[in-house]
Amino acid sequence: MKQLIDRLYETHSLSREELKALLEGRTKELAEYLFEKAREVRICRYDHDVYIRGLIEFTNYCKNDCYYCGIRKSNKNAQRYRLTKEDILTCCKEGYALGFRTFVLQGGEDAYFNDERMVDIIRSIKAAYQDCAITLSIGERSHESYQRMYDAGANRFLLRHETADEEHYGKLHPKNMRLSERKACLYDLKNIGYQVGCGFMTGSPYQTTDTIVEDLLFIQELSPHMVGIGPFIPHHDTPFKDMQGGTLELTLFLLGIVRLMLPDVLLPATTALGTIDEQGREKGILAGCNVVMPNLSPTAVRSKYMLYDNKICTGDEAAECRFCMQKRMEGIGYRVAVSRGDHLSLQ
Ligand code: 5AD
Ligand code: FES
Repeated sequence: MKQLIDRLYETHSLSREELKALLEGRTKELAEYLFEKAREVRICRYDHDVYIRGLIEFTNYCKNDCYYCGIRKSNKNAQRYRLTKEDILTCCKEGYALGFRTFVLQGGEDAYFNDERMVDIIRSIKAAYQDCAITLSIGERSHESYQRMYDAGANRFLLRHETADEEHYGKLHPKNMRLSERKACLYDLKNIGYQVGCGFMTGSPYQTTDTIVEDLLFIQELSPHMVGIGPFIPHHDTPFKDMQGGTLELTLFLLGIVRLMLPDVLLPATTALGTIDEQGREKGILAGCNVVMPNLSPTAVRSKYMLYDNKICTGDEAAECRFCMQKRMEGIGYRVAVSRGDHLSLQ
């Protein structure tokens, strides 16, 4: 098995059969070997820098009904909210003072935030903070819409593909959602010029080794700038409330593999990882991650943006999270960087 890791380290790719063998053959010892290699690659490219992204959860209205997600349309218990442009700019102001140079605007698929409103928000942030990057995470939209937001100044776009297996995709989403559409959006975004991020949850219901292999092959093919991988965590008001959640062990192993596959990738140690294990984000960094995304949303709305149960940091002020993160990273020998933290191909 170590030879497979060595080959991935050298060539950045493995075949379907090799990926399957590596996943099925994983042990504690093999994982340690993988993480050593992943750290070596990560430190060679990004030194001990950890990039921070200020996450602004600006709407929890969503027209979609994904079976795993706490803000799905059918969840009548979710208290819906939208931030105003002024609210968002206040978050950015606070974030800038705390050293954030990337703002991530994340929300459900909310028709209220049409192109005109998004363009206005993006332009306003860009005018006030010229040295900052804007990342959007607002789901599937038309080519024209993606283009208009890019022209207004958006730099990056996160759109997890969720699973690269058609049949599995159908078990996680209602019929009106299509994997082909999701993939088309990702290629569209990349062609427009965004730094793009795809990704998936580990341990999502009906996930198998084969579907994970498809995810890794898709990541190899798309070659995104960013990859978001975190454990599935059940939410009590969704159809998946009684399903098993994803494990720390599998999530870390996949993060290590992705680092070797895409040596320059921007790879967040996610909030979900920090939710299933108190040291989850630190362990993510030590498995090859180089990004963390502390919450910048106003505390008044934090507990309403609940994608899954027990989400951490919902009661903490932005400044608390920022310094907590700094302590955590320094505690494992890394440092928080005050910079846009672009993909190496763009630095
Ligand atoms: N557990 C973990 N992650 C989730 N997401 C949505 N619901 C859950 C859940 N229950 C993830 C999805 C989505 C991202 C914004 O959050 O992968 O793309
Ligand atoms: Fe939010 Fe630690 S990162 S409290």
